Amino acid sequence: MSVRETWATRIGFILAATGSAVGLGNIWRFPFLTAESGGAAFLVAYLLLVIGVGLPLMLAEFVVGRRTKRNVVGAFEELGRSNWKFIGGIGALAGFVILSYYSVVGGWVIQYIIASVTGAYTSDPAAYFGTVASGTNAVAFDALFMAVVAGIVALGVRDGLERAATFMVPSVAVLLVVLAGYGATLGGAEEGYAFYLSPDPTTLLTDAIALLPDAAGQAFFTLSLGMGVMITYGSYLGEDRSLLNDSLLILVVDTFIALLAGLAIFPFLFAGDVDPGTGGPGTVFVALGTAFGQLPAGQLVGTVFYLALFLAALTSAFSILEVIVAYVTETFDVDRKPATLGIAGVMFLVGIPTALDINVLTAYDALANQVLLIGGGLMLAIFVGWVFADSAVDEFTKGMDGGDTLSTIWIWLLRVPIVLLLAYVLYKGILTTSEAITAVL
Ligand code: TRP
Repeated sequence: MSVRETWATRIGFILAATGSAVGLGNIWRFPFLTAESGGAAFLVAYLLLVIGVGLPLMLAEFVVGRRTKRNVVGAFEELGRSNWKFIGGIGALAGFVILSYYSVVGGWVIQYIIASVTGAYTSDPAAYFGTVASGTNAVAFDALFMAVVAGIVALGVRDGLERAATFMVPSVAVLLVVLAGYGATLGGAEEGYAFYLSPDPTTLLTDAIALLPDAAGQAFFTLSLGMGVMITYGSYLGEDRSLLNDSLLILVVDTFIALLAGLAIFPFLFAGDVDPGTGGPGTVFVALGTAFGQLPAGQLVGTVFYLALFLAALTSAFSILEVIVAYVTETFDVDRKPATLGIAGVMFLVGIPTALDINVLTAYDALANQVLLIGGGLMLAIFVGWVFADSAVDEFTKGMDGGDTLSTIWIWLLRVPIVLLLAYVLYKGILTTSEAITAVL
């Protein structure tokens, strides 16, 4: 087997991990969750959850990855804990399910970039979305998106993932800054900001119990946790610097991009006189498509917006494929290029039903995000908190000054509150998912 690659630079690693984190979750899910759940008040609660739940879990993944320098499944063997290998198995399965439909959505985004240039969606945005979302064109653009993802992963850690993330992640940030800046000049800006961020502690307080699982789920989802992306990315770290500092940075950039997306989207919607609705894929495509049809220079703005979305989706997508490619190349002794092609091909086939029927896509999404990822995260919290705690603390404190108190807080957060919270979120997720699956059958 060839020598295992490492990241060329620290910042390259941070950007790649940030690229995985920044995706559709930031640009569409977060702004709507915030707007509906108490605005600025929700934001404060969300930040506490990102720090209290997301950060400890991200550190748990990084610690396992850097300690073992192996893939999601191999990591547990390396630790002599083969009976915990199933955590890696859940991760790999989640990866298959997620990327198979994520690339379908990626294909929609490509179609919308083109349609923004030609103006194809302006006359009837809802009908246009219908033609994009399913059918042979959906399958074809799904294949195109998957091919781009596979092309990047086939090039390897440094030449593929790191290089792509190094220019794509800053590009997403710059494009969103430009879009938010343009949004600020529009007539709808005030209203948009008010809708997005006006503090509404009442909603937050009355719905606190109902919101907690949603907000925790989003904190978890936006940081790409639960399927071993951060185990895999952490396993390519050569040096021992503070994982806490790096994780904090990833988290700050991820949150910043999510906030920025809302600062762009809501002025567009209000200026275009479009009801923000309730979020969901329909909003990114139908509501925004409607707004782009109304705004001055709307087609140009739309092109830039969907381009940002494309880049964000791409850096998330290749992190998913990398998890499986690392596992397969290291377990079965196959070369990276054929392995990447083969896996991407199988994922494409698995995703075809979702490109033909949006209800199937919803069911895949529920299964992956609400059951497999949460289940994987829950098991990892139990593993790191209870089984592997001593070595985990040792790995956590490497490259840090002191860190004893911090590592104790970390382990105890994983052991009790996070385990309880994720168990509850998983329970709710199983209920939603069985509904989504029954709806398809
Ligand atoms: N974090 C991504 C987003 O915000 C989505 C995501 C969730 C993800 N879990 C993942 C991406 C695992 C890659 C791998 O859109």
